[in-house]
Amino acid sequence: MHAIAVRRGEDEPVLVEKPRPDPAPGEALVRTLRVGIDGTDHDVIAGSHGGFPEDDDHLVLGHEAVGVVADPNGTDLSEGDVVVPTVRRRPNGENAYFGRGEPDYAPDGQYVERGIVGAHGFMAEYFTSPAEYLVEIPDSLADRGFLVEPASITEKAFDLAFASRSAFDWQPETAAVLGNGSLGLLTLAMLDANDRFDRLYCLGRRDRPDPTIDVIEDLGGTYVDSRETPVDEIPEAFEPIDFVYEATGYAPHAFQTIDALAPNGVGALLGVPDDWTFEIDGGALHRELVLHNKALVGSVNSGVSDFEAGVDSLLGLDDDFYDDLVSGVYGLNELDAAFATDDSTIKTAVEFGRR
Ligand code: NAP
Ligand code: BGC
Ligand code: ZN
Repeated sequence: MHAIAVRRGEDEPVLVEKPRPDPAPGEALVRTLRVGIDGTDHDVIAGSHGGFPEDDDHLVLGHEAVGVVADPNGTDLSEGDVVVPTVRRRPNGENAYFGRGEPDYAPDGQYVERGIVGAHGFMAEYFTSPAEYLVEIPDSLADRGFLVEPASITEKAFDLAFASRSAFDWQPETAAVLGNGSLGLLTLAMLDANDRFDRLYCLGRRDRPDPTIDVIEDLGGTYVDSRETPVDEIPEAFEPIDFVYEATGYAPHAFQTIDALAPNGVGALLGVPDDWTFEIDGGALHRELVLHNKALVGSVNSGVSDFEAGVDSLLGLDDDFYDDLVSGVYGLNELDAAFATDDSTIKTAVEFGRR
């Protein structure tokens, strides 16, 4: 079968041939429909995040998949079910985090991530997975099912951030998403749909005309250009922000978020930056966190319940938003377009098959 992989020592995706996998007991065989691409995939390809499976000279890419069950193999699934796989898998041996159904809380070394670190991903015509890590989705979402995984990332981050404000009567009005990439724009749409915030902002560093700025404004958000308004100056230029969702991977934003927040606000940090040493006034930021009850929370990966919540959220988004967000769905002979990073590319997916 065809698969898309990056080889050790190389930094571009290539088409490879691999045998179709056989499902082990407890696993189902899934025929892949589409696999989405995000910033993490580009980091994996560049070699700045993730790692190859031991003893293999390549890593099959892809962690945002949707497929159709081809062989339930004795599991509770049925042939033809449309499913989305979660990303983390148990490495060898016992593992309390997986045992509790919370692999997204496992520390380094106690998990592998398919398509990212230590395990082959889903960019292949077929993949296998334990049935417990396959989330069934409605047939109507089959074409867009590759967005369930990123939506689940945001569901988990919302849960963690809002839980930290649950000890008092938090009455947020404003939210800002830092980053106009695919995760940032999807999150902006989810914030718009959940009606919790009255005013939405989204940060980028692009000149108009730009398709991501159009998406922000179509969602009723205000575009903030970080070249004119650094994150910590948002309160002065616009207004203090109750909830900040960082999705740039630009390390200073984590700390500038503290000053962007309104008293009692919370910032969720999602970006995965490289090492970067820079100066901050640690005393002022520490004081600001304490004296104004502010919180920062990091969030990585997501679990089955987050995938289920992500499905519900995706069902509530407008067709127009999907049309604008998904800038292209490409075949196996169009890898350059699928993995492009130009300003007209927002969210892409590779299509392996139709339902
Ligand atoms: P992406 O497509 O690379 O998006 C990042 C966006 O941030 C880009 O649009 C970029 O703008 C913008 N940006 C970067 N620096 C900026 C700055 N200084 N000012 C304004 N805008 C800036 O990545 P993504 O897929 O949306 O993911 C976002 C981040 O979340 C990445 O770091 C990714 O690794 C991380 N992530 C984490 C998780 C998790 O579980 N924690 C899950 C998924 C993704 P330009 O395009 O104009 O450069
Ligand atoms: C994936 C997560 C993963 C994280 C860190 C993200 O892009 O969506 O599932 O845990 O990267 O590797
Ligand atoms: Zn991802």
